[in-house]
Amino acid sequence: MNKSALYQLSYGVYVVSTWDKGRATGCTANSAMQITSSPATIAVSINHDNYTNQCIQDTGKFAISILGEHTDPGVIGTFGFYSGRDTNKFEKVEPVMKEYMPVVPDACAYIVCNVIDKMETSSHTVFLGEVVDADVLKKDDPMTYAYYHNVIKGKSPKNAPTYQGE
Ligand SMILES: Cc1cc2nc3c(=O)[nH]c(=O)nc-3n(C[C@H](O)[C@H](O)[C@H](O)COP(=O)(O)O)c2cc1C
Repeated sequence: MNKSALYQLSYGVYVVSTWDKGRATGCTANSAMQITSSPATIAVSINHDNYTNQCIQDTGKFAISILGEHTDPGVIGTFGFYSGRDTNKFEKVEPVMKEYMPVVPDACAYIVCNVIDKMETSSHTVFLGEVVDADVLKKDDPMTYAYYHNVIKGKSPKNAPTYQGE
């Protein structure tokens, strides 16, 4: 099998956020996709070891901040290379509240979901969320995963589903 074929799949770059007992938290994720349009349903794949996974399980809600090409790339690092277990990520990135969920203010759009189902794999939980709110925050091109790698020269940590031991 030529696993580099998997690199030909396209993604965006997002912050998936939720609550940790009243404290906003979340992680960077590329694995978000729309599953149905009516009702609008989104899936995200979150590693079992990510603190965000546990917090989404407890809260039953998540928000997706769709990062743009002009979003500060530091946001990706803060949310993608540290854990909410020991870091207050939203201290550096003051959230805006949308439908009672914390959202990255610098994002180009957001989507808020209630978890309606989930599927376990050996390493990741796929959360299925029904969209309860969404809006565009600013005019910007959404950042693609290819842009993150090719222009920002960003890396993916081992908990990203696309990690192949770079
Ligand atoms: C570009 C990028 C994409 C990522 N995509 C995912 C993803 O789709 N799912 C996932 O579980 N982790 C993904 N990660 C890894 C998490 O963001 C990372 O493990 C984070 O530190 C987890 O934080 P937490 O413990 O606070 O949840 C990604 C990281 C980066 C930088």
